[in-house]
Amino acid sequence: MEYTELSNGLKMPMGGFGVFQVTDKEECKQSVINAIRAGYRLIDTAAVYGNEDAVGDAVREVIAEGVCTREELFITSKLWVQDMENYDTAKAAIDASLNKMGLEYLDLYLLHQAMRDYFSAWRAMEDAYQEGKLKAIGVSNFYAHVLTNFCETVKIAPMVNQVELHPYFAQPDAVETMKHYHVQPEAWAPLGGGRYQPFEDEMLQGIASAHGKSVAQVILRWNVQRGVTVIPKSTHQNRIEENFDIWDFTLTDEEMDKISALDLGYVGPAVKHFNPEFVRGCLGVKIHD
Ligand SMILES: NC(=O)c1ccc[n+]([C@@H]2O[C@H](COP(=O)([O-])OP(=O)(O)OC[C@H]3O[C@@H](n4cnc5c(N)ncnc54)[C@H](OP(=O)(O)O)[C@@H]3O)[C@@H](O)[C@H]2O)c1
Repeated sequence: MEYTELSNGLKMPMGGFGVFQVTDKEECKQSVINAIRAGYRLIDTAAVYGNEDAVGDAVREVIAEGVCTREELFITSKLWVQDMENYDTAKAAIDASLNKMGLEYLDLYLLHQAMRDYFSAWRAMEDAYQEGKLKAIGVSNFYAHVLTNFCETVKIAPMVNQVELHPYFAQPDAVETMKHYHVQPEAWAPLGGGRYQPFEDEMLQGIASAHGKSVAQVILRWNVQRGVTVIPKSTHQNRIEENFDIWDFTLTDEEMDKISALDLGYVGPAVKHFNPEFVRGCLGVKIHD
């Protein structure tokens, strides 16, 4: 496995495991256990996924089994917009995430969306970071112009920005802006989130067979080689293992360019942040009373 160093010196794995939409608690716990046993060390959840408790259970179980130590793991969660009303709601939500997971600290905590009063919420995250409850803090779904304003304004700049990044929505300019501010890019939906058809693409199949790898491995590797952390999700053991077996091959510059050329150059269908109805929908999602 490869690692990157965040702007505060923390080591972050370049590959991880996401649990979005794994709503069945037992399935989530078992998938995380399987992923950690397969070698993953980064787990990505969020308060709004409703499975922080299952992730915490899995983490305690693998540590008890001696698979790895807490220090070797990199556990991420995210603050939901309902809790981004003000400093106090954000502060309480950070503690709620820690309590649900049964962990003393999280390795990374992200503002899930640039919505509501995210500057006040960020101040609560800065304080939790300084208290050692959060080892790193970052943002998610921050477009380049939003990230620029944010980095130029806040006291502690975000260490990570998790956004949709795959060959069909490659966002090269946004990645450059993140690098300018020493913000680690992290790809959600690195396999396209089940929406595009990468597995049927003949060019990708050709590159995959040239390396004795699968299309999934090739597109994950493409992101890693351009400096982007990937967090693919799967509830299938064979795919969990396949998606982590990407550290023993290197794509050529020509292959990297061919994959980058798949970029559609516009916001993918899953990203509706520019749609007021989508924003109102997010603002209405309540994860507690
Ligand atoms: N910050 C945000 O706003 C945000 C938004 C979305 C996602 N995320 C994070 O990013 C993670 C990944 O994103 P995602 O789950 O949307 O998309 P993804 O990882 O790109 O794709 C997951 C889909 O691909 C399938 N799949 C997995 N491995 C495969 C393989 N080797 N071959 C063929 N198909 C494969 C999965 O099916 P099976 O499960 O059936 O194998 C699932 O349908 C999430 O779990 C979450 O942690 C964050």
